[in-house]
Amino acid sequence: MREADSPSIPRHVAIVMDGNGRWARKRLMPRVFGHKAGVDALVRTVRACADRGVRHLTVFAFSSENWKRPEDEVSGLMALMMNAVAKHMAALREEGVRVRIVGDRSGISAGVIASWDTIEAATAHNQRIDLYVAFNYGGRWDIVQACKRLLAEGVDPSTLDEARLARHLVMHEAPDPDLFIRTGGELRLSNFLLWQSAYAELHFSDCLWPDFDAGELDRALQAYARRERRFGRVTASPPDADAAVPLSQPASFLSR
Ligand code: FPP
Repeated sequence: MREADSPSIPRHVAIVMDGNGRWARKRLMPRVFGHKAGVDALVRTVRACADRGVRHLTVFAFSSENWKRPEDEVSGLMALMMNAVAKHMAALREEGVRVRIVGDRSGISAGVIASWDTIEAATAHNQRIDLYVAFNYGGRWDIVQACKRLLAEGVDPSTLDEARLARHLVMHEAPDPDLFIRTGGELRLSNFLLWQSAYAELHFSDCLWPDFDAGELDRALQAYARRERRFGRVTASPPDADAAVPLSQPASFLSR
């Protein structure tokens, strides 16, 4: 299904990779075992997205709220982050993946930050697909940090507009997500890319993240290709002709 530049392939896919803990529990294993399998699913998904012409993939690896998890799970996720970089960096570099880590770096250990700096530098010139890993990230945190930077610049409120604020968000290099996928069966956004997903098409799957594969991705892409994106405009081809009211003729119910 490779159709780079085709409107039916989203330029930017965002994923909430949920369900690792349940996947591990079903196997009577600790939660970190599920996260480890989640890294394999992530690497599979990066390749599958690149093969299909997706240019940007953003995944939620650790939220601002995940610090509330048990200490061993938090330290397990930090260690996994470093292991994942060591294990997959060479292949990602060879395969044209540009990796960026986005989020609040305060509270993250020097070792983890050093591994991020290493993979970002090693892949900086790649152009096939951008992989943004959101770590210690929250959509509300992002908007607040952008406001703080604007205030520090001495922004004049009369000149502030959406474009200027967006330039201060951590995802400012990428277009907004076209397709927002959440695995694991829950139907919520969980504070991921709140500003950027204003017009994203949402796709929810019951698949637990470690089971996510090219087939699941294709189901999401097929659902996306069937959507009509209107961005607030009137539909070009109304599905129900009776519901279509020409703008020049106010609907009768308005004058009742
Ligand atoms: C949510 O599943 C998943 C996370 C909080 C972590 C996601 C991390 C990965 C997939 C690994 C990739 C990370 C790195 C280090 C690159 P959950 O634990 O909430 O699952 P549950 O809802 O079944 O309990």
